[in-house]
Amino acid sequence: MRGSLSDEPTPAIQTKPCNLIDKPASRIALNILNYFDVMKGIKMATSSNKLHQTCQPSRQAHFFSHAASQRSSSRRWVSSFCANALVLLSTIPLVATVRIWNAIFRDWRDARANGAVLPPTKPSLIGGLDLLKEGVMNADKIYPGEGLAVLTDKMGPIVNLRILFENRILTAEPEYIKAMLATQFSSFEKGADQRGFFADLLGTGVFLADGDLWKFHRGMTRPFFKRERVSDFALFDRYSLAAIDTIKQRLRSGFAVDFQDVITRFAMDASGEFLFGYDARTLEAGLPYPYNALKTTGRETALDADHEKSLEFARALNRAQDAAMRRGPVGPVWPLFEFWSNKILREMGTVREFLDPILQRAIGGKAGSVAVNSATTEENLEKMVAQNVVKDREVQEGETLVEHLLHYTQDQTILRDEILNIGLAGRDTTSSLLTFVIYMLTAHPHVLAKLRAEVLEVVGPNAAPTHEMIREMKYMRAVLNETLRLYPPVPLNMRSSAEAVVLPPVKPGEKPFYIPANTKVPFATIVMHRRPDLWGPDALQWDPERFIDQRLHKYLTPNPFIFLPFSAGPRICLGQQFAYHETSVFLVRFLQAFSGVSLDMAAQPPESYPPAEWKDPEKDPLSWKRGERLFVKSHLTLYVNGGVWVRMQEAEQE
Ligand code: HEM
Repeated sequence: MRGSLSDEPTPAIQTKPCNLIDKPASRIALNILNYFDVMKGIKMATSSNKLHQTCQPSRQAHFFSHAASQRSSSRRWVSSFCANALVLLSTIPLVATVRIWNAIFRDWRDARANGAVLPPTKPSLIGGLDLLKEGVMNADKIYPGEGLAVLTDKMGPIVNLRILFENRILTAEPEYIKAMLATQFSSFEKGADQRGFFADLLGTGVFLADGDLWKFHRGMTRPFFKRERVSDFALFDRYSLAAIDTIKQRLRSGFAVDFQDVITRFAMDASGEFLFGYDARTLEAGLPYPYNALKTTGRETALDADHEKSLEFARALNRAQDAAMRRGPVGPVWPLFEFWSNKILREMGTVREFLDPILQRAIGGKAGSVAVNSATTEENLEKMVAQNVVKDREVQEGETLVEHLLHYTQDQTILRDEILNIGLAGRDTTSSLLTFVIYMLTAHPHVLAKLRAEVLEVVGPNAAPTHEMIREMKYMRAVLNETLRLYPPVPLNMRSSAEAVVLPPVKPGEKPFYIPANTKVPFATIVMHRRPDLWGPDALQWDPERFIDQRLHKYLTPNPFIFLPFSAGPRICLGQQFAYHETSVFLVRFLQAFSGVSLDMAAQPPESYPPAEWKDPEKDPLSWKRGERLFVKSHLTLYVNGGVWVRMQEAEQE
C-alpha cells in the first residue's frame, strides 16, 4: 500500500485529521513510511492544480491536502516545505541504521539456517572509518598483501573487514580460493564493484566481463592462444636479442640499466607484434639514464615522434593502473575522491591516441569485408552475445589477434578494449616475472651459476633455444616457478558472490562459513604462496630447488591449489604457455650473454628504496619487509617502484 495513489482508503490513517503533519512524532513516523512518496507528492503539488483530486484519505493524501490548504500563502508553504525537508533529512540516519542492523541480522539468521557461521569481523569504529583511514594513509607504503596476511594470521582463514557498512570478506585459504575459482565457479563473479573500479581502464574487455559476455570474450580470444601459436620461438628470440643488445650498449657506455624498464619494453614490443602485428619499437627508443647520471651529465635521449608516443602510452597506462588501484581501499565512495577529475580517463586519452591508429590500420586492411554498423557498443555486444556468434574459429596462418577479432566485430570500442586487456596482460605480467627473476638473481649468484650451466649444457653458448630445449630445462622452470611463488605478478584479486554461498570448514569439526550474496571477496595469492604452514618453515626463502626436491612432493603435489600464479578453473590465464615460453627464451639469451648481474644501489633513485619503517621489526610482524632491498609495490601487477638498476658482466669478458 505504501506509495499507492489508489482510491482505496487506508483504514488506520483514514480517521486522522489532515493536519497530521503538524504533530512531530506522527510526522517522523509518517515521513519514514512515505519518504519517497512525499517527494513525489511535492513534485505534484507544485506542478498541478489537481491536488484536491489526488488528496485521498491515505497517508500521503494528508500531506497533499495540507499543502493544498496552504496554497494561498506561498511563503507559509515554503517554510512548511523546508521544515518538512529538515525532518525528512533527520530521519535518514535512523532509516540507515535500521537497514544496516536489519542486514546484519538477516545475514546472521541465514547463516544459522544453513548450519554455518559468518566469518569473524575485525573490530572497528563506526562504519569502519578507522580502517578506511588506515587504508588510505598506508596506501603508499604498504607491502602488497601484508595487511591481509596479518589479519588472517590473527583471526583465521577468512575475515570480514567491514568498511562503510559493507562486508569485504578476505581470504588466503586455498580451499576457499579453489571454491571461488573452480568448484563453485558459478556462484562467484567479477561483479559490479570491480567493474566500477576498473571499467574506465579495462572497458568492455575480457577481464571485467561476467556470465554470457565473459563466455563470448573468452570464446573469441581462446583460439588465438593455441599451443602452436604461442610457440613462436623465433619472435621471442628476435626481441630477446634486441633487448640484450640495447642493454649491452648502455652498460658499455658505463651506466647502469633499469632492467624493469628494458624488460617492459621487450614485453610490449614482443606481445605487440604477436597480438597486433605492430612493433611499437619501444626498445629502440633511448633507455633512461640513472637519476644521478642525469644530474651530472645532463644527457637526454632524442626520440622520434613514434617512439615518444609509445613511451607516453606506456607511462599513461602505468598511471591509469595506479589510479585504478587507489579506488579499491575507499570502495563505493571513490567518485568523491575524484570529484573534479576522473584520474583514469585523464590518462586514457593518451592510450587511445596510441591504439586507435593500430586499429584503424587493421580495420582499413579489412575494408569491405565487414559490414558498417552504427549501433552502440552495448547494442553490438548484446547482439553478438544473443546470436552466440562465437564459434571456435580457426586462426589463419600469420593472422594477428586484431585480424582474428575483426571476424566477429568492427566495433572500435570492443576491439580497442579487447586488445588493451590482452595487451596489458601480455606486457605487465611477463615483465613483472622477469624483473623479479633478475632481482632475485642479483642476490643469489649460485642460482645464476646453476641456471647458466643448464643453459650452456642444453642450448649451448650461441644457439637459439627450441621448444624441446626449453622443455628439457627443469631448473629454468623451477627458477620461474619459485619467482612466481614469492612474487606472483598478480598478487591480489577479487571476486563477488553472485548468490549466498556456504564454504566448507577448513578443519574437521568446525562450522562452515556463510558468505551473503553480493559480497566482495578479495583474495591474495601472494599471501597463500608465502604461508609457512602450506610451504614449510622456509617459505619466505627464494629457493628454486623447492620445485624439484622432496618439498615438491611434500607440499605442492598433494595440494596443487596452494600455487596459483595463473589462477585456476574456467578463467585460468589464457597466456600461461605464452608466458613460460617468452620468459624462458629471454633468460636463455640473457645467460648466454651475461655471466653475472648485480644491483647498483647508487643508481637506484630515492623512490626505489623501501620505506624506513620496513626495517623496523615491530612493523614487520611477518618478516616480509626487512629483507627487501627495493620498494616492492603493486597496481594490477607487482613491480618495483623506481625500477631495478643493474650492472652485468658480459660472458665473453670472463
Ligand atoms: C607470468 C605471466 C602471467 C601471469 C602470472 C598471469 C596471470 C593471470 C591471472 C592470475 C589471471 C586471472 C585473472 C582473474 O581471473 O582475475 C589471468 C588471466 C588472463 N591472462 Fe594471464 N598471466 C600472465 C601472462 C599472460 C599473457 C602473456 C597473456 C596474453 C598474451 C595473458 C592473458 C590473459 C587473459 C586473456 C586472461 C583472462 C582470462 C579470463 O578472464 O577468462 N596472460 N592471467
